[in-house]
Amino acid sequence: MNQLRSGEWYEGGDRNAYIHRAWMRRGLPEDALDGSKPQIAIANTASDLTPCNMHLNEVADSVKHGVWAAGGVPYNLPVVSLGETQVKPTAMLWRNMAAMAMEEMFRANPIDGLVLLGGCDKTIPALLMAAASVDIPAVVVPGGPMLTGHFRGEALGCGTDVWRLSEEARAGTISKAQFLQSEQSMIRGKGHCNTMGTASTMAVVAEALGMTIPGFAGTPAADARLLSLSHDSGRLIVDMVAAQRRPSDVMTKEAFLNAIIAVAAVGGSTNSVVHLLAIAGRLGLDLTLEDFDAAGAGVPVMANLQPSGMFLMDDLYRAGGLLALLTQVKDLFHPAPITVTGKPFVDSLGEHPVYDDTVILPREAPLMEDAGIAVLRGNLAPRGAIVKPSAATPELLQHVGPAVVFDSIEDMRARIDDPDLEVTADSVLVLRGCGPRGYPGMPEVGNMPLPRKLLEQGVRDMVRISDARMSGTAYGTVILHVAPEAAAGGPLAFIRTGDIVTVDVENRVLSFDVSDEELRARTQTPASEAAYAAPQRGWAKLYVDHVMQADTGADLDFLVGSSGDRVSRESH
Ligand code: FES
Repeated sequence: MNQLRSGEWYEGGDRNAYIHRAWMRRGLPEDALDGSKPQIAIANTASDLTPCNMHLNEVADSVKHGVWAAGGVPYNLPVVSLGETQVKPTAMLWRNMAAMAMEEMFRANPIDGLVLLGGCDKTIPALLMAAASVDIPAVVVPGGPMLTGHFRGEALGCGTDVWRLSEEARAGTISKAQFLQSEQSMIRGKGHCNTMGTASTMAVVAEALGMTIPGFAGTPAADARLLSLSHDSGRLIVDMVAAQRRPSDVMTKEAFLNAIIAVAAVGGSTNSVVHLLAIAGRLGLDLTLEDFDAAGAGVPVMANLQPSGMFLMDDLYRAGGLLALLTQVKDLFHPAPITVTGKPFVDSLGEHPVYDDTVILPREAPLMEDAGIAVLRGNLAPRGAIVKPSAATPELLQHVGPAVVFDSIEDMRARIDDPDLEVTADSVLVLRGCGPRGYPGMPEVGNMPLPRKLLEQGVRDMVRISDARMSGTAYGTVILHVAPEAAAGGPLAFIRTGDIVTVDVENRVLSFDVSDEELRARTQTPASEAAYAAPQRGWAKLYVDHVMQADTGADLDFLVGSSGDRVSRESH
């Protein structure tokens, strides 16, 4: 065993070592702090206010047993938790705060290894950002999706079917009472959303980055095998400390490219883009939007899962699981990156049969042939915008239409159902003021609702453009993450209702029909400065003063790069 990091707290006969040991003993075995046993923190995002992660204390117990069994000493370390459906104004405002707080607590405490327990959307990204920054050996335990709930005999995809049913209620095809009845069935039990939304996607990301035991992602929260794998993760982290296998050894540039390929193959959430960029930034890796377009190009979507397809995460597990799906495109993955086990990620792809090829589609007959995340650029998004073709209406991926512009989410809500709103199915709905700085926090409002009068005419999708994000469970022809955002002075701030917008996904273009001269003239009269009034105190002020744009991951500028695991001074 190498010299343990925790030895800097516990070893020796001086007063400080005495204090560190004495306060920790509290019934621990005599040899727990003698320098022979790795000290393992279980970074636990369990919280009664993060419903998708409520079960993680039970998971932590299994991890603890594994750590003890392998000769380590486990500690539960509750960390900032974010319930996607609960926290206002948006969980994304707090992702960087959670990551910063986790990073500091990982560094400040006498720990040698980390087991990262996440689930709900922002929790795995924040944990990975923090672990990357301290670069202490770490393994992810994804909390798992919930089992499928049913309403009136039909499976419910949580998230996706909320959007669908609420639009049906607005269109009048189901009653308000029926819509509300479905609420009881939406959440079946423990775990995160059961679609290929952001939480499921980030579990896939963690696995493809090499940060989980292979075969873990997608194991349902209620499945006993989740606890077995959690136990195994506890055992593994003790070995990882001995080998000094750190996040920077696992999460290399090629590992990120593998993660992008995996996200494309499952039709994963657009939110993975900002999270992967932010994690890579913490490691000092040069990952760009172009890497997403290039690495994902030509990867077929083989997961027939909502929101792009029909089925749900429990079906994917039954059909053979993530490894069975990724095995079909094994040749696309970079061979060098290793996982937390120390073995190459591609070695985990191979003997994994598909048991239901209506859920895991054959590579030759995928849901979509080529459906990574497309990066669009043009005079409306000089630093890029993204769209997920697999969730879009194919005919709308090439579209020219007049803009209908909303200055804020409140403006959109006030006018979207106005019978006098001049809008047709060919219009392009544009929403601004919802980027990282403008909202602040870049909420998931990019999939704005369609005007009621068009819904009543049977319209079910339109081109929508914004500087916001979109829920990973949502669908539609929705162009997101426009950078620079309006509040940062991007051209999005200057587009006007009636301007003609061109969307050409094949050629990666997002532009509006305005001359350079006219655009320059418009920038002289900023339209809505007041809409982006900056917060004056607290986290929101720190965030707005330092948040970067979506094309680099919307992390804080001073958190880019690693600070390592050293602490230079004693506490007494
Ligand atoms: Fe937690 Fe969807 S709300 S994963």
